[in-house]
Amino acid sequence: AALGWDELQRAVAECTACALARTRTQTVFGVGDRRARWMFVGEAPGAEEDAKGEPFVGQAGRLLDNMLASIGLSRSGQGDRSVYIANVLKCRPPGNRNPEPGEVALCEPFLRRQVELVNPRVIVVMGRFAVQCLLNTDASIASLRGRVHEIEVAGRRVPAVVTYHPAYLLRNLADKAKSWADLCLAREVYERAAAAA
Ligand code: URA
Repeated sequence: AALGWDELQRAVAECTACALARTRTQTVFGVGDRRARWMFVGEAPGAEEDAKGEPFVGQAGRLLDNMLASIGLSRSGQGDRSVYIANVLKCRPPGNRNPEPGEVALCEPFLRRQVELVNPRVIVVMGRFAVQCLLNTDASIASLRGRVHEIEVAGRRVPAVVTYHPAYLLRNLADKAKSWADLCLAREVYERAAAAA
């Protein structure tokens, strides 16, 4: 909880807390502006992320990039356009299986410290596993989206908006419109936070 960015990144790179350390090519820490105004959180690296060491570089990542662009953000954006992208798990689960509860529990402190260090104005929580980890609920995405949640990190409440995971959207095109509405809600939340800052 006290680690700075470089120490945290090193701790992740050297982590052997669970069995995923034995099958990963490398850890996938996060990407973007470390002082970003926006943070997006996904599930776990897939094959392409494991190979490249960067989150969301595969097909779901291309959709995420389009989603970011639709609200004026990008991985290399600055200021109001800045974003930091991270996953719940920093290592790829073999065969892209779902993260196991024990893996999430061991990896969660890394994500929470990333949220603390970035200190974003809004977090977009994408998919079931990010929701379970950050919002501590098993409720469905459908029941959680459309309103603003709060994530408490280091005594500070960060507004959070829940939406579908990009990989889910690739398979369920009809829900893309809902995801667009979620991004618009997140933008409203951001603008309110920016006006108050
Ligand atoms: N899906 C995720 O949740 N994260 C990635 O980095 C890639 C795909």
